[in-house]
Amino acid sequence: MFVRYCILISQPSLSLLFPAATNPLCALLFHSTGPKYPPVKFLSEKDRKRILITGGAGFVGSHLADKLMMDGYEVTVVDNFFTGRRRNVDHWLGHGNFELINHDVVEPLFIEVDQIYHLASPASPPNYMYNPIKTLKTNTIGTLNMLGLAKRVGARLLFASTSEVYGGIPEQHPQPESYWGNVNPIGPRACYDEGKRVAETMCYAYQKQEGVDVRVARIFNTFGPRMHMDDGRVVSNFILQALQGQPLTVRTLGDGNCLRFRDGRMLLHGGGVRGGLQFSAERLNSSLQWERTSIDGNTLTA
Ligand SMILES: NC(=O)c1ccc[n+]([C@@H]2O[C@H](COP(=O)([O-])OP(=O)(O)OC[C@H]3O[C@@H](n4cnc5c(N)ncnc54)[C@H](O)[C@@H]3O)[C@@H](O)[C@H]2O)c1
Repeated sequence: MFVRYCILISQPSLSLLFPAATNPLCALLFHSTGPKYPPVKFLSEKDRKRILITGGAGFVGSHLADKLMMDGYEVTVVDNFFTGRRRNVDHWLGHGNFELINHDVVEPLFIEVDQIYHLASPASPPNYMYNPIKTLKTNTIGTLNMLGLAKRVGARLLFASTSEVYGGIPEQHPQPESYWGNVNPIGPRACYDEGKRVAETMCYAYQKQEGVDVRVARIFNTFGPRMHMDDGRVVSNFILQALQGQPLTVRTLGDGNCLRFRDGRMLLHGGGVRGGLQFSAERLNSSLQWERTSIDGNTLTA
């Protein structure tokens, strides 16, 4: 069973609990008084799972690290800092439950853990198209390495997949899980889309053949704090353009009636729009409807 996510990462309570994470003045005080961390729940050794997050210095992964740390788990973040930033997790550095490892998942990793959240992969088109071969290696060899690790240590693995497995122009809206997608295997996005698709295949092959406990989360467009300003995806582009007082650029991919956002996470109303189109900021409310996602209680981040 796939779990579907479309996440609006609201500013976590972290900035309230821990202003040094965002405020340089507080950061100064923080350094003068020694490290302080957000409150972390106490778990007995038996319940304190050792959790690995690959790509944990990235946008989604760092929020996940915050959540798991505050829940009292032992968290190891592995990241090669291609798109991630040390500052996304540096508020945990030195904490007894936290470890940050500079490592590329394309290389094998030997570590003892109970759970693996495998998020390592560039996620925005400019980033994953920058080096398509590396994107493929990360999603294929990197995922094989993590599945091998999960098998060796008996860990459960969650793989962060994507709505892009349905393709840039899916033929069905919304996409049911029975829909297998419409991906161009040699298009510019193929390194990511096909990389994620074969990674899903690997997960279920390891489950069937080796009995590894796997989960696959097909994440839809997510946005929130710690996202790069120049991320290149549509929501951050809208926010940036709105902040700069510029018209919002909407590019349609198919018949003009919809973008690839499913289930009304973002619905583009008023079909018949073809090709590139610019909606001015004033027309935003009548043109776009935003909805908060309900994810049946399954959320990656708080
Ligand atoms: N954000 C979204 O809207 C979205 C949508 C669908 C799927 N996803 C998936 O969620 C995951 C996280 O996405 P994100 O938005 O946080 O992206 P991000 O770019 O902020 O984070 C990805 C992290 O992976 C790291 N990384 C990349 N290649 C690596 C490698 N070879 N070895 C180790 N670390 C590596 C990066 O440095 C970065 O820290 C990705 O797998 C992405 O495909 C995200």
